Amino acid sequence: KSIDAIFKSLGKQYFGTAADRNLLNNAQNSEIIKADFGQITPENSGKWQTIEATQNNFNFNDLDFLVNWAQTNGKLVRGHTTVWHSQLPNWVDQINNKATLTSVIQNHVTKEIGRYAGKILQWDVVNEMFDESGGLRSSVFSRLLGEDFVRIAFEAARKADPAAKLYINDYNTVEKGASYKKTTGMATYVKKWIAAGIPIDGIGAQAHLVAGEAGNVAPSLRLLCAAAPECALTEVDIVQASANDYVNTIKACVDIANCVGVTVWGVRDPDSWRAASNPLLFNSGYSTKPAYGALVQTL
Ligand code: XIL
Repeated sequence: KSIDAIFKSLGKQYFGTAADRNLLNNAQNSEIIKADFGQITPENSGKWQTIEATQNNFNFNDLDFLVNWAQTNGKLVRGHTTVWHSQLPNWVDQINNKATLTSVIQNHVTKEIGRYAGKILQWDVVNEMFDESGGLRSSVFSRLLGEDFVRIAFEAARKADPAAKLYINDYNTVEKGASYKKTTGMATYVKKWIAAGIPIDGIGAQAHLVAGEAGNVAPSLRLLCAAAPECALTEVDIVQASANDYVNTIKACVDIANCVGVTVWGVRDPDSWRAASNPLLFNSGYSTKPAYGALVQTL
């Protein structure tokens, strides 16, 4: 039985992985995705620098490919990501007035999310907006608009695809424990924004872990999941992971009722953005590693 099938039997929506056109066109990799995963997340093809490298000149080729592949193969999609300070083209970084940035965000979110309306389960509308002390990271968005960019982005996203669950996603939020400032800061801000009517449906915890941090995931994720209608682990990989690190991390979501699914950030170690550290569930020979078997046994 695949982990995805086990997840579904436990009432979860999916067990997913990141990919893009190159990895979907790789026969061995795509066979694994078809057999073992229920959701795909575009690793890079949904990012601002790919989608709108020059203003109002949109390139959806690779994201179209991924969404079509998912539909053909019966897989869900997590959209990733519209508003993020990184992999952001210079022309956006250089905007220096509020009104321009507001309409640029609205246009980008509306065009990208609207194009796939009805086809995407969840969108990471805002990514990595918090700093390590739990405040707003300095970016063109926060410098010009303060917190308002969150409302601007989420309201445009809701309008563009009323069916998609809209997420705010970040890293270092489940690694350090439930009292870590970034974790409590995110939970506090999100509760406040939801109470103020901003259409946030979910909190995503990326969970790019280092071995040894896995014990912190359950308490931190519980705190985050209590702050929003739903939550997910969105980009799991674990540097030098033991099978037990994987079990502890993924079981944390399984044990929380409103945690709807887990995405691992790739299939095979050598294709990972952290390739040197053996962080995933399949090895270079496309075979499952011990963590995979441990998950199937334990979940
Ligand atoms: C990473 C990709 O995996 C790399 O291929 C790319 O070079 C950089 O971005 N947080 C995120 C993801 O939200 O989009 C990042 O993905 C990893 C960290």
